Amino acid sequence: MTIKVSLEETVVYDEKVGRNRFFLSSLAKTTIMQLLKDKVALVTGGSRGIGAAIVQKFAEAGAQVAFTYLSSEEKAQKVADTAAQAGVQVKAYHSDASSYQQAEELVKKVLEDFGKIDILVNNAGITRDNLMLRMTEEQWDQVIHTNLKSIFNLTKHVMRPMMKTRNGSIINLSSIVGITGNAGQANYSASKAGILGFSKSIAKEMGARNIRCNAIAPGFIETDMTNELDDKTRETYLSNIPLKRLGKAEEIADVCIFLGSDLANYVSGQTISVCGGLNT
Ligand SMILES: NC(=O)c1ccc[n+]([C@@H]2O[C@H](COP(=O)([O-])OP(=O)(O)OC[C@H]3O[C@@H](n4cnc5c(N)ncnc54)[C@H](OP(=O)(O)O)[C@@H]3O)[C@@H](O)[C@H]2O)c1
Repeated sequence: MTIKVSLEETVVYDEKVGRNRFFLSSLAKTTIMQLLKDKVALVTGGSRGIGAAIVQKFAEAGAQVAFTYLSSEEKAQKVADTAAQAGVQVKAYHSDASSYQQAEELVKKVLEDFGKIDILVNNAGITRDNLMLRMTEEQWDQVIHTNLKSIFNLTKHVMRPMMKTRNGSIINLSSIVGITGNAGQANYSASKAGILGFSKSIAKEMGARNIRCNAIAPGFIETDMTNELDDKTRETYLSNIPLKRLGKAEEIADVCIFLGSDLANYVSGQTISVCGGLNT
């Protein structure tokens, strides 16, 4: 016998096991999947890697998504087309996150196109690894501008629109090396550590306006960034990761969905390590 107890739940009497079984209808499953329904997200660096996974997963979770790229125009268009198949508006913008002026113009355009911004994911980032003895001023400046100044640029310009709606979630991509440091990455580690201090400060400054700010510290995730690692370094990392594998970009995107959604309404000023247990 099948009894419909609500739009979302069906009870079926299972004769084999002699008791009722509850099934969630597809409507309920859809409701669970739509954690970001009616939200508009802006993601920097969405053309590849973690950013591309965030765009796709956000769209599947019901968000409308604006995202940026710097050089990968074709890849960005593909990401936009694929994500839009989830039935939401998705648009790619060419914008250099390290430029204050371009960030200002970007936010203006996104507001014109989407009407509001509920979630900002500061994801764009680069590495220019070198030992300190050999590190050039250019390598230092490029990493600090792209990874850290970009976060100031974007946050600065989304703050007012978020204050107007008294609603906002800012998610900053740091790294576990921002917590632990790493030989050969003084520039990158410094930028990622800076992001942690910035995120906590924004959480304290903007909490009264219902704007939350959190950081995610990924461990080693399979993307173009970690494909550059040589086999020996990769093996060393793998042996130290309790879960014995690199992470997937989608696994970072899942945590972004949580932080961007109303499930995290009381989570602010935190750093969540997503690293297979490496930073424990
Ligand atoms: N992969 C890891 O293991 C790992 C670990 C810890 C933290 N993270 C952090 O996670 C974030 C994403 O990393 P990923 O591995 O996905 O990197 P990735 O595969 O190298 O992709 C980087 C993305 O950032 C974009 N980008 C770079 N510079 C930009 C700029 N100035 N303005 C706008 N977009 C820019 C790139 O756009 P174009 O393709 O157009 O150039 C690309 O979409 C970074 O902040 C990284 O530091 C990654």
